[in-house]
This record gives sequence, structure tokens and C-alpha cells, in this order.
Amino acid sequence: MNLILMGLPGAGKGTQAERIVAEYGFPHISTGDMFRQAIKEGTALGKQAKAFIDKGDLVPDEVTIGIVRERLGKEDCNSGFLLDGFPRTVQQAEALEEIMEDEGGKIDAVLYIDVDPDKLLKRLTGRRICSNCGATYHLEFNPPKQAGICDKCGGELKQRSDDSEATVHERLEVNMKQQQPLVHFYSEKGTLKKINGDQPIDQVFRDVKAILGAVFD
Ligand code: AP5
Ligand code: ZN
Repeated sequence: MNLILMGLPGAGKGTQAERIVAEYGFPHISTGDMFRQAIKEGTALGKQAKAFIDKGDLVPDEVTIGIVRERLGKEDCNSGFLLDGFPRTVQQAEALEEIMEDEGGKIDAVLYIDVDPDKLLKRLTGRRICSNCGATYHLEFNPPKQAGICDKCGGELKQRSDDSEATVHERLEVNMKQQQPLVHFYSEKGTLKKINGDQPIDQVFRDVKAILGAVFD
């Protein structure tokens, strides 16, 4: 099954992706994670992406589409994948249609995690990430058992550099502009599945599973 996880910054894409991957075993393809890895490694892609990410802007479509095309061409995607945070513009969605045609596949479902934008600032500024395994926490909504330490691996929890309040405002504004046309794009195709993301994390995941169960049948 080929899936897309869509939603504004902080809607819970990464949080749900961790659970979906653990349950179903799809490769998790997060463009945000790919950019952060490239920045960490100091590659040319990383240098290019960093300037946009630090400002809260989108990385240009041609760059983002290029890395996704390459990734989806890898063998582990043949039996399904979970795209997280891509596509984010209609141009990216159209390019993905072409990629899928070239690969002889299709997108089976677009899980749109819907949360009132007013709630997202708090989610993002309170987020902490394990510097070792990448697990996501929240100081209030999903705290680790021991402050600053990952429950899963004991790694140190850190704040993402683009989760400062100023950058979060810009990210939300930039992404809100793109969201509606994308929702329209996938509604027309009949693949959009809206999920109420303003519920406890486990309940959101139960809703995800109910939808995937229906799509699988
Ligand atoms: P990316 O890493 O994709 O960031 P994003 O879209 O801003 O999304 P986030 O990762 O911030 O949020 P999320 O929805 O995963 O939320 P999470 O589960 O962590 O992209 C980073 C940057 O890369 C972009 O700004 C852009 O520059 C660039 N980029 C990436 N893709 C691109 C593309 N396609 N085109 C162009 N540029 C691109 O949850 C957030 C917090 O809330 C956590 O602390 C979590 O514990 C908590 N939480 C989660 N669910 C709940 C819940 N149900 N209730 C309460 N709290 C919850
Ligand atoms: Zn960890």
C-alpha cells in the first residue's frame, strides 16, 4: 500500500508515522528527515536546504521532487511506502502522479491529519526529539518518563532548531497557504481520508488503523 501522511506542521505526522511503521512495516519517507540528515552530513543538498528550513520556508519544489523521485525508485518501496510531509504543494502532487505512473503504481490513501492551527504553536515549541533514535516527545502532551531522556534508547532529548517560536509562526503561515489546494487535489481524486488530529495520540492512531483496515480490504 502506498500512503501519504498530510497535515500542518505539528499536526502529528511524525508521531503517527512511528506507529504506522511499527505496525505495518512500510518504509517511512519523510522529506523533513531527509533534509535534516543531509544538513547533519554537510552535503550539497543539506547546504541548499538549510537556508530555507531555518527561515521556515519550503525547500524549492525541484529539489524536493528530485530527492523523492530517487527515494521511491529504491527497491524497498516496491511493496509500499509511507510518505510523510510530501507532497506539500500542488506542483509536488502532480510530480508524484508522474513518478507513480513511471513506477507503475498509485497512491492508495492520503491520511490528512486535521488540527486547528491555533493548537499547533504549543505542540511545536514543546516538542523534543531523541538525538539518538529520533523518537518524538512533548513536554506536556507526551512527556518522557525521565526529563530530557528518551524512554526507548536513553538518548538525550533536544529541541529542533526550527521549533523556535519565530520560525514556527512562519512555517505555519507558509504551510497553511499550500494546504487547501492540496486537500482539494486529493479530494477530487477520492483518496483523501480526513482524521481528527485533535484527540489523544492513541485515539488518532486507532482512527488511522480503522481507515487503513478499510483501504486494505
Ligand atoms: P518536516 O520535518 O516535515 O516538518 P513539518 O511539516 O513542519 O512537520 P513537523 O515534523 O514539524 O510536525 P509533525 O506533523 O510531524 O508533528 P509531530 O508528530 O512531530 O519539515 C521540516 C522542513 O523541511 C519544512 O519546514 C520545509 O522547510 C522542509 N520540507 C519538508 N518537506 C518539504 C516539502 N515536501 N516541500 C518543501 N519543503 C519541505 O508532533 C508535534 C508535537 O506534538 C510533538 O511534540 C508530539 O509529541 C505532539 N503531538 C503529536 N500528536 C499529538 C496529539 N494527538 N495530541 C497532543 N500532542 C501531540
Ligand atoms: Zn531514543
